[in-house]
Amino acid sequence: MAENWSIGPVLLDSQTIQKRVRELGGLMERDYRGKKPHLVCILKGASIFHADLMRAINLELSSDFIAVGSYGKRTKSSGEVRILKDLEESIEGRDVLLVEDIVDTGLTLRYLLQNLKARGPNSLKTVALLSKPSKRKIEVPVDHVGFDIPDEFVVGYGLDFDQRYRNLPDIHILQTR
Ligand code: IMP
Ligand code: MG
Repeated sequence: MAENWSIGPVLLDSQTIQKRVRELGGLMERDYRGKKPHLVCILKGASIFHADLMRAINLELSSDFIAVGSYGKRTKSSGEVRILKDLEESIEGRDVLLVEDIVDTGLTLRYLLQNLKARGPNSLKTVALLSKPSKRKIEVPVDHVGFDIPDEFVVGYGLDFDQRYRNLPDIHILQTR
């Protein structure tokens, strides 16, 4: 298949991302003071954000990982969500913070919130590095958003296209050649 895609201009550079992640860490510290937040990373896209955010929160905390079905090679959501790798630990009675890379249609987050709520956490909140408000198909509560971005497919800082570009330090727009 011909290579029709390439990485385009930088939308958010690494310095801008790091500054915002530190701010979010400060907000989480305020939200969870006196508590031990349990940071659930939604693999794989949120892995880098989760790692940076954890280090920006100066509280005793724990973390776990969950993986859900992803876009594969396409850049449009199928709307189908399934758990590919479940949490290792029970979240019953815990203060869970769901860490997501990007909220697009909202379907992934809605599914996960319903699924995790049924497991009886003490509290369940969400933080997403990015949000594309114009693409939302359903209303879903996102307690904290790093950046609202336009309707563009983006890669880098954990976000992929066909498993590529996760290692880029900046977030770029993916473009058609
Ligand atoms: P949603 O279910 O449509 O909200 O999609 C959420 C998931 O789709 C995210 O966790 C990402 O894995 C993926 N996704 C949505 N938009 C982008 C993008 O611009 N770049 C990379 N992945 C994306
Ligand atoms: Mg994701």
